[in-house]
Amino acid sequence: MKFVYIENLRNFVNEEVELRGWLYNKRESGSVKFIILRDGTGFVQCILSKTDVPVEIFERNIPYESSIVVRGIVREDKRAPGGYEVLVKDIKVITESENYPIPKVREDNIPDVDVLMPMRHLWIRSKKQWAILRIRSEVEQAIHDFFYNRGFIRTDAPILTPASVEGTTTLFEIDYFGKPAYLSQSGQLYVEATMMSFSKVYCFGPTFRAEKSKTRKHLSEFWMVEPEVAYAELEDVMDLAEELVEYIVERVLERKMEELKILERDIKELESVKKPFYRITYEQAIEKLMKKGFNIKYGDDFGADEEKGIVEEYDKPVSIMFYPKEIKPFYMKIDYIDKTKVRNFDMLVPYVGEIIGGSQREEDIETLISRIREENLPMELYIWYLETRKYGGVPHSGFGLGVERTVLWITKAQHIRETIPFPRLLEKIYP
Ligand code: 4AD
Ligand code: MG
Repeated sequence: MKFVYIENLRNFVNEEVELRGWLYNKRESGSVKFIILRDGTGFVQCILSKTDVPVEIFERNIPYESSIVVRGIVREDKRAPGGYEVLVKDIKVITESENYPIPKVREDNIPDVDVLMPMRHLWIRSKKQWAILRIRSEVEQAIHDFFYNRGFIRTDAPILTPASVEGTTTLFEIDYFGKPAYLSQSGQLYVEATMMSFSKVYCFGPTFRAEKSKTRKHLSEFWMVEPEVAYAELEDVMDLAEELVEYIVERVLERKMEELKILERDIKELESVKKPFYRITYEQAIEKLMKKGFNIKYGDDFGADEEKGIVEEYDKPVSIMFYPKEIKPFYMKIDYIDKTKVRNFDMLVPYVGEIIGGSQREEDIETLISRIREENLPMELYIWYLETRKYGGVPHSGFGLGVERTVLWITKAQHIRETIPFPRLLEKIYP
């Protein structure tokens, strides 16, 4: 008997095969029963007719989510979901489930999320969560392929770190052999060092922020990809960022159409994500918001409402450049002309807001030292970082793209907690 995955059924039409999975759903209609089998690679309708299967199998009431092995003939049927169905000859039950705690009709019903979240380990089996997480996997693979194809070297950064990168207010402190240490907020400072060895690098890993805010787009543990490029100016990495985002969306459209359909995602909107994207200055963004009646002044940072106010003006991602240095971290390069601004950019997309933050880096040691002082950071912990400038420092730039925010945008999931298998949220760490 040929064991096959549902994703390969098209190669086995009219053949007898064995499928190994779980009973996802079922219904009955007279002398015929229907089972939706899922096997991780897809879903397929299996038909049990009284005349074709042993009577004890036909009459057995197999509970939801029981693990089963199905033997049957593959049929092509345009009307069947997925285009194929299986005429069952036999079913073997591996483990009969207890009463499954998530009602099948409300599997992805977010208003009940307080019920669903503690059952995340089961919730991920449902069709929408399956689709979202498969798209996440594609996004991650696309990121690796994108950088690999451009000759970048992956150099991952440590997770246990002695100092902050993105301000001290969101640090998770831990006890490191009796001394304080922190979970990494960003691998950036470390890729700035590896860049000096490999020229084009990126790190990809979990990062941590003790975010006190309870929003649709904040996790306390999230995954970030952070490229860093020697001799690159701000505009060079903005090009790179736009190419990356275009490529990610293209890959999902090319390889995860079925999943997008399950999520009822508007495909047209994704198809229009083609370069060139928009670029505006911080000042232009402030002016735009003032004109729209926002209560905002020069020097303010953008919150969720302001980001929405900006992105809704555009039909593609928009980058905002040159923020006042006061609202950005110490490592960003002061602008060549306007010394009150930094050479940075934030890329915003509809529905989510910021998915990328990046900048040219300050390579002048004296400026860096005074910026570290201004922010009251412990200088002795940044000596090694300063040395990257001392020995052959070069102009360089990089950015960080948040994986979950990108998946949130592409899938239009209701909340960022659905874009990662086991989300970590404000005071929520179970399961
Ligand atoms: O803008 P951020 O803070 O930039 C950095 O960390 C830089 N050191 C990156 C670099 O230049 N190498 O974060 C970058 C991205 C954001 O645009 C967002 O997509 C994501 O990381 N992000 C979060 N995602 C989920 N939950 C949070 N709490 C996030 N904070 C940032
Ligand atoms: Mg940012």
